[in-house]
Amino acid sequence: MTIKTILTTPFSDQKPGTSGLRKSVPVFQQPHYLENFVQSIFDTLEGLEGQTLVLGGDGRYYNLEAIQIILKMAAANGVGKVLVGCNGILSTPAASCVIRENQAYGGIILSASHNPGGPNADFGIKYNVTNGGPAPEKVTNAMYDRTLVIDRYNILEAADINLDRPGSFKLGTMDVEVIDPVKPYVEMMESIFDFDLIKGLLTSGKFSMCMDSLHAVTGPYAHALFEEKLGAPSGTVQNGTPLEDFGGGHPDPNLVYAHDLVAILFGENAPDFGAASDGDGDRNMILGRNFFVTPSDSIAVLTANAHLVPAYKNGISGVARSMPTSAAVDKVAEKLGINCYETPTGWKFFGNLLDADLATLCGEESFGTGSNHIREKDGLWAVLFWLNIIAAKSESVENIVRSHWQEFGRNYYSRHDYEEVDALRATEMMEHLRSMLATLPRKQYGDYIVDYADDFSYTDPVDGSVSSKQGIRIGFTDGSRIIYRLSGTGTKGATLRIYLESYEPDASKHDLETQKALEPLINLAEEIGQIRKFTERDIPTVIT
Ligand code: G6P
Ligand code: ZN
Repeated sequence: MTIKTILTTPFSDQKPGTSGLRKSVPVFQQPHYLENFVQSIFDTLEGLEGQTLVLGGDGRYYNLEAIQIILKMAAANGVGKVLVGCNGILSTPAASCVIRENQAYGGIILSASHNPGGPNADFGIKYNVTNGGPAPEKVTNAMYDRTLVIDRYNILEAADINLDRPGSFKLGTMDVEVIDPVKPYVEMMESIFDFDLIKGLLTSGKFSMCMDSLHAVTGPYAHALFEEKLGAPSGTVQNGTPLEDFGGGHPDPNLVYAHDLVAILFGENAPDFGAASDGDGDRNMILGRNFFVTPSDSIAVLTANAHLVPAYKNGISGVARSMPTSAAVDKVAEKLGINCYETPTGWKFFGNLLDADLATLCGEESFGTGSNHIREKDGLWAVLFWLNIIAAKSESVENIVRSHWQEFGRNYYSRHDYEEVDALRATEMMEHLRSMLATLPRKQYGDYIVDYADDFSYTDPVDGSVSSKQGIRIGFTDGSRIIYRLSGTGTKGATLRIYLESYEPDASKHDLETQKALEPLINLAEEIGQIRKFTERDIPTVIT
């Protein structure tokens, strides 16, 4: 086996976004494209020699080919050992768990999260650091800088490793351990939740649930957890076999893309509980019978009920939410007397808060929820958390949420996405909003008076780093908010997101249809932002 040094030239488009480098498969399949980025990762990591890395992905198209290339490149770059998931599988939360438990140097996760997969769909690669979380911006920026000047990469000439079953191999001088991708994760979940209590619920004959893995990575994890460990009947997990193209679907757990599950939960003889997760298993959607729990409400309910879960029964240190996430959890934090941190979009911003024990639970409107057990958001963890609460309270999802609103008030919330709009026009729209900011405070629009208007900037309380231009916030004196932000995860054109929130303390007004309740704000968002003009669209592509 010989190490080959291959000459290459830089690609100019390898800047990692919110969650790593995400491009279409044909882009990744260009000669040297993947290799350039992987070598840039290795070149940026100091003291990598002899260290242990974790490697796995969500099973999408190109996953296995990429894994074999990365293994050979790791061997050629002096890595000591790679722990790789069987069949190249590791959900994002499981990868974070394995990095932490093995005190690995870091990990490479292959996924484009909730984006579709297949020969013409998306692929992605991201690097996670020693704490199990996504690499901070200074690390990804250094990787990007390296991609711009790279002129060679190292790769071992060797046969592919057999990833079919667990086992130990040698690749040159490097150890390769093919691990069971499910077991460590399931054991971690058992150490957090009351499995006996949940099992009692799932085997009582009085409760039914449906978990939709959308043919993505959580299938094997969900089968093991719900059907094998917790006694739910087989068939509880649907679309549980990971497929390279996710069965042609869009593996994003929301009301639009998880339509089969939505039809079941809103149909006749609906089960009591439904859940879905995304391509790489870090997102979640929670449904009750005929009832949708917004992710913003979900983190609020979990925080209010955390004492019912063994791992959090002694209290939580604080909570954190991304800026566009509704302020529902802020109300709970206030009551519990704990801090609530508002961070920019992107799970990586929670890492420092979790490491410093300033926050225990974190949540994002983008269907992400998680805790200090790992450093990624965790879809199945959220599902188990809900089941643990339902079992402990013996109440339906809808009742739990309605009593929560009664106690804390309801934050009506919706996100309107305009996907694949012209990137230049979208930037112009944001610039137009920025130029108006100073003139907005105290301005009156119908019943609404602008309280503040800014471009969100965050100073990390742990390392003092500043992230600016994180989205336009317009807050009104009654607590309502309109937020305009450009997505950091799209691969085509720009995606404009408008987040709308209005607070209703009066329980007699908690039954409005969400879009109806938000109508005045929706109109105001158009009036201020001139969305139609800039996007040349009459309606959003996706409303969640
Ligand atoms: C990924 C990140 C999340 C983030 C989301 C935002 O899923 O892991 O932490 O909230 O992207 O995506 P956006 O498209 O709104 O930038
Ligand atoms: Zn994801």
